[in-house]
Amino acid sequence: MILFKTRLASLVSVLLLNTAVWAQAVDETTGLIINDNVELVKTHCTVCHSAQNIIHQNGSRLTWLGLIRWMQDTQGLMTFDTDTENKILDYLETNYGPKTTNNYRRALLPPFLMPPNPYQTIATLQWQGLQANYQAGEILNLELAVNFQESYSKGQLDLWIAVHLPNTPDSDFQFLTGTATQPTFNPEPQAFLVALKASNDTYTLIKDFIVPPLPTGEYIFYALAVETGTNPLQESDRNRSNLITQPVYLNRAE
Ligand code: HEC
Repeated sequence: MILFKTRLASLVSVLLLNTAVWAQAVDETTGLIINDNVELVKTHCTVCHSAQNIIHQNGSRLTWLGLIRWMQDTQGLMTFDTDTENKILDYLETNYGPKTTNNYRRALLPPFLMPPNPYQTIATLQWQGLQANYQAGEILNLELAVNFQESYSKGQLDLWIAVHLPNTPDSDFQFLTGTATQPTFNPEPQAFLVALKASNDTYTLIKDFIVPPLPTGEYIFYALAVETGTNPLQESDRNRSNLITQPVYLNRAE
């Protein structure tokens, strides 16, 4: 909760800052923004398709990593050594990062970051299995215990799981999708599990996930259960569970 207040406070202070907009020089042959590691990206990323694919895409580091993994799994993209991959990701994240960072106006505060819900609490959530620290290569398992409120009569709910990445705007989240054994993270707001029956249960969210070489820092997990079919980012006045958060630190120096 303390963490939460701090984040709200920092969000307000960011809102008061002016955002400067720079004109960026672009590479003549590809149109890529000229910056550190642009040559590396030209070499590795414009062989099969033009750089237009990249220029028209915006995403967090995790989104870019997901795209690279997808091309490696299905399109024959080579595997990079960690150093090369990190440099490519540095370039993509810096120059083609999430759109909101370049926007003049910040996105609105998602309702699920709002103060406590005055409406009915439909369930109580609790994390299970999450460690405070992970190193790349370690295995992450995440479960969620859901305790339904007996008085909640509609009896079906959706589970939303989001992660906030280090050094990204407070309003940017990656939403857990896919399955527990093949989790993916998507900037598009969506529930992870839908229409769960009203019974006290423990759900496996992420199973045997090998932590990839992501940037060092604090990743904050959020979980929320809402009435099935509602979007907590648009409808904050609906019945829902408690919102739980858990910071996880990746690659902390030992
Ligand atoms: C071995 C071939 C190959 C290489 C090398 C390659 N890609 Fe791709 N990529 C593809 C194919 C195939 C597609 C899907 C067809 C298309 O959009 O042209 C694709 C699609 C994309 C897309 C569009 C995805 C979407 O959602 O539409 C992006 C962005 C992208 N690549 C970025 C990159 C980056 C960054 C690199 C360098 C790390 C890279 N590509 C290197 C084969 C490759």
